[in-house]
Amino acid sequence: MPNDLSPVLTVMQGDGFYNRNSRAQAAGIDAVVPLWEKALRSIEIGREPIVVADYACSQGRNSLAPISVAIAHLRSRTEPDRPVEVIHIDLPTNDFSSLFDVLETAPESYLRRGPGVTASAVGRSYFKPILPEARVHAGWNSWSLHWLSRLPAYAPDHVSACFSADKDVLAAVALQQAEDWRRFLEARAVEMRAGGKLLTLSSGKPERGRGWAWIEDALWQTASELRDRGVLSAGELLRMTFPWVERSVADIEGPFGASRRFAGLELEHAEVIRAPDPFWHEYLETGDSALLGKRWSDTVRAYYAPLIRPALEPGREQESVLDCLFARFAERLADNPQVNEHYGVVAVLRKC
Ligand SMILES: C[S@@+](CC[C@H](N)C(=O)[O-])C[C@H]1O[C@@H](n2cnc3c(N)ncnc32)[C@H](O)[C@@H]1O
Repeated sequence: MPNDLSPVLTVMQGDGFYNRNSRAQAAGIDAVVPLWEKALRSIEIGREPIVVADYACSQGRNSLAPISVAIAHLRSRTEPDRPVEVIHIDLPTNDFSSLFDVLETAPESYLRRGPGVTASAVGRSYFKPILPEARVHAGWNSWSLHWLSRLPAYAPDHVSACFSADKDVLAAVALQQAEDWRRFLEARAVEMRAGGKLLTLSSGKPERGRGWAWIEDALWQTASELRDRGVLSAGELLRMTFPWVERSVADIEGPFGASRRFAGLELEHAEVIRAPDPFWHEYLETGDSALLGKRWSDTVRAYYAPLIRPALEPGREQESVLDCLFARFAERLADNPQVNEHYGVVAVLRKC
């Protein structure tokens, strides 16, 4: 049993691979834009420049729409040329080059919204304070908080710690998600201005059952098959325990209590939504199950590949192992095409 449960670096696959393979996350973002617009309408703004923080920007493509919406809404309530400072935040090892490239070159970049909008980036974990006190009017955070700050336990029976049947593993995951959520909130409470708002969207847990069963169980079966064929060692399979969690509404409400306040933040809204599957209609139209399998395999590779490489023994041909794993995974998905049933939990916070 490995004993090194050190912090993990849950960045996405670089060279723009995440930007090219994150339509699933983009579809979930589209679903919460109306809630984001509602939050933006009630943010208090004085005479100061507007500050928008994007917590966990990754390579930026999926940030363009919600940040553009924020700029348009907040400026519509002040002056159309009010200066806007956008700050993108992610882990230091994030592929920031792809972010800057998208900001400069994408036709839908918010930097094309006229003068007075500036962009910068910070490489730091959001489990610590990042920005000066009382700075942020609008905070955006999509599809990141399900990543735990550290792997709390190895799972002997699944690639995802949160889907293990082992009670000790589940208890360790539950403790870690609660601690991470509190740390995230405490740090944001410092940075947000009074009357500012933050929307966070991450993997959600429905009242009954769980999400991602088709995809995640197929990945576990694929990795186990490769272990049986000698492509992966037992140690490599165990180290391929991924540190993420689905949060319920109760998990989100946990620190807030009856007052719905915690650390100077008020929880205005929390709900679990069914997240869209952006590939299913394409499959129904084309009947191409191989394409459906490839779409989901690439989506999953974009976030798991950086965690799999350090799980492999030294000296392995890492890219060949990854190619083999994800090709077989795509085949397995293609053999059993389904809608990917998964959920998001969305919360809106207001700084008191
Ligand atoms: C799935 S991507 C989401 C990117 C984008 N927001 C979206 O919705 O498509 C998750 C991002 O969270 C970042 N992340 C994970 N843990 C983080 C932390 N502790 N601090 C800052 N960013 C973190 C990862 O590096 C990654 O870029």
